[in-house]
Amino acid sequence: MNPGILIAFEGIDGTGKSTQLPLLATYLRNQGYVVIETREPTTGPYGQQIRALYQDRQQVSREQELELFVLDRQQHVAECILPALEQGHIVLTDRYYFSTAAYQGAAGCDPAAIFQRNSFAPEPDMVLLLAMTAAESVTRIRELRGESLNDFEQQDQLEKVAALFASFPHGCIVRINAARSVQEVQSSIREAVRQMFAKKGIECSG
Ligand code: TYD
Repeated sequence: MNPGILIAFEGIDGTGKSTQLPLLATYLRNQGYVVIETREPTTGPYGQQIRALYQDRQQVSREQELELFVLDRQQHVAECILPALEQGHIVLTDRYYFSTAAYQGAAGCDPAAIFQRNSFAPEPDMVLLLAMTAAESVTRIRELRGESLNDFEQQDQLEKVAALFASFPHGCIVRINAARSVQEVQSSIREAVRQMFAKKGIECSG
């Protein structure tokens, strides 16, 4: 057990994780907490190899791809997440091992085996699953970001990923409807965090 709090943001691409995470960080800092914002894939050596795969996943086998995500996470946990939790900080991570179970699961690996392989990683106190349909997320990626879809983001693939995210039974997962305004989504996120803090007896005001 460590004294910190770990919150993971999960969901398919385009659901707004990277908008919502800094807003929650600001809210928690205003309450006096030390908050570490981090993300996967990381900017480390394995994360860089993963990013190189975005345009052409065929360069490596599914197993090699899975291995890269696990190696990247081992480094992330050892060098960033655990030290911050041991110091009692709040860690907000944009993606965690649920992404591996969902994305590499959709690519044909066994999600249960993926969870097993990630058992070195501390279980989050809460997973905020930003949920929307693959069709909505693809529209957002194309129209709002003006981007084309990379190899991890093809719509049929995202449908499988969304279905897997929705199927995970973990009690730490809180589903947030992400097909709403930034403010509405953020207010649901804050409410969920306040409830989790209240259960743990940690102070957090409105
Ligand atoms: P993303 O959050 O889009 O990162 P960035 O904005 O920095 O490019 O994640 C990159 C892609 O990697 C995304 O499509 C999901 C995929 N991914 C996996 O397939 N498995 C994983 O374990 C993780 C962490 C990400």
